[in-house]
Amino acid sequence: MKLHYFKNFIQHYLTSTLIDVLHSPFVFDLYQTAIKKQKHHLKFKVIENCRTNLLKNNEIVSYSDLGAGSNILSTETKKVVKHLAKAHLKPARIAQIIHQIVLKYKYKNIIELGTSLGITASYIASAIKENYPFEETNFTTIEGINDVRKVALKQFETLELSKYVNSIEGNFNVKLDDVLSNYETIDMFFIDGNHTYEATMEYFYKALPLAHNDSVFIFDDIYWSPRMTKAWEEIKQNNDVYQTVDLFFIGLVFFRTEQNRQHFKLRVF
Ligand SMILES: C[S@@+](CC[C@H](N)C(=O)[O-])C[C@H]1O[C@@H](n2cnc3c(N)ncnc32)[C@H](O)[C@@H]1O
Repeated sequence: MKLHYFKNFIQHYLTSTLIDVLHSPFVFDLYQTAIKKQKHHLKFKVIENCRTNLLKNNEIVSYSDLGAGSNILSTETKKVVKHLAKAHLKPARIAQIIHQIVLKYKYKNIIELGTSLGITASYIASAIKENYPFEETNFTTIEGINDVRKVALKQFETLELSKYVNSIEGNFNVKLDDVLSNYETIDMFFIDGNHTYEATMEYFYKALPLAHNDSVFIFDDIYWSPRMTKAWEEIKQNNDVYQTVDLFFIGLVFFRTEQNRQHFKLRVF
């Protein structure tokens, strides 16, 4: 697993280039405004302070692995919040790219699979708040572990984002259908949990009918395992998918029929 990840990391580093992007005005614009490293934003400081506190948080929570690391014999166990924060949360750079994408395209119908401690959800919600301070929006984030979700709820409260986040507890496999039935279309679908080939493809196909021309689907950890890379390659080949941007840590999928089918690799670090 680790070998697959590092081999692909080096390959990505050597093959990602900005030159191709210059031929796609859409991806070039996306790069300039959302992906390219921005000057340090003061507005992110408050969320990063929450991350710093989570990384020092000694609270113990009940935990059972529902995702790729789980198996039939896995039983509930205890975890320290600071360890979960270290292992699970998206790095600031990636969460900030997601924030910039929500902000740029004014997305408001969003689903995240895998809230964990709520850091990326806070980045998403803060972009929604910036665009729609007085409007009703529809951002749902699902987390399977109740104790973990409770910590996330505290972050949303501290950051005054609670009214922009609809937090659901439950297994994606059970809850996703219900959640999808509350949407006519989805602007952004962020899959950040249960990194198996089967689950990733299942969630992709379930959400696909709700994608529109300007939607983005974001897949986390596309090089986490050979099976996740297989899922990513299959998604790239799907007939409804027109452009993809591989940032190694996450993969972005677009459905813009007015542009050629193109696949890009860009370096973020
Ligand atoms: C990598 S973490 C999410 C990190 C979060 N998106 C962030 O960047 O701040 C993945 C989360 O998904 C949850 N999860 C994994 N598989 C799940 C499933 N089948 N149903 C519900 N939750 C699941 C885990 O409990 C974990 O908290």
